[in-house]
Amino acid sequence: MAETFTFSLDGGKISAHPGQSIMEAADAAGVYIPRLCDTEGLKPQGSCRVCVVKMNGRTVAACTQPAKADSVVESETPEILGYRRDLVRMLFHEGNHLCPICEASGRCELQAMAYRLGITQSTKYPYLQPVRPVDASHPDIVLDTNRCILCGRCIRASRDIDGKNVFEYVGRGIHKKVGVNGDNLADTNVSIDDRAIHLDICPVGCIIQKGRGFFTPIGKRQFDLAPIGGEEKGHEE
Ligand code: FES
Repeated sequence: MAETFTFSLDGGKISAHPGQSIMEAADAAGVYIPRLCDTEGLKPQGSCRVCVVKMNGRTVAACTQPAKADSVVESETPEILGYRRDLVRMLFHEGNHLCPICEASGRCELQAMAYRLGITQSTKYPYLQPVRPVDASHPDIVLDTNRCILCGRCIRASRDIDGKNVFEYVGRGIHKKVGVNGDNLADTNVSIDDRAIHLDICPVGCIIQKGRGFFTPIGKRQFDLAPIGGEEKGHEE
């Protein structure tokens, strides 16, 4: 039997084994830590920072930070919830997220995370309103980077599971976006059957399958029925 140790998470005792991240150990114990760039089956990337926690007083990303024996981890404190709200707010202000007309509404992890964190209105940040063309060149797939949050899940799925490298980051800083390995999607070897195109990979409405629009009616979608991660935590102050 593998060696295990324990650490404290918001006062509860969590078991872990060497090499497990804080998030993996919490998941195994049934304790949810919010996340956007991380999802089951993909190597953690540690980029969105929504999984921020404090370990022994230092802020770390729970998805990439290995759990440590006897450490004290805080997750659902007012301070950390405030960090998560700011991170999620900035994503809304950075892209063009028009939830009421988005095909992903109700199954969008960004939208659901905002609800979980009690974000119900625009806030202090300016809307950047970037101009990003929609790539509808492929017969089965649309890529709308207006809704992209740069989580890299499509990049990792295409590279590590499909073995295709269809998607990649291009540009720097504020101009960084997800591009494809061709002039447009139709110019790549992407397929509707690729893991990268499955609905659970893109957390928002950036990758859309043509011909399946609103296949589950609004009001009956995943996060219409239950909040992301279970019980909602905290309300916007
Ligand atoms: Fe950990 Fe995004 S889920 S950084």
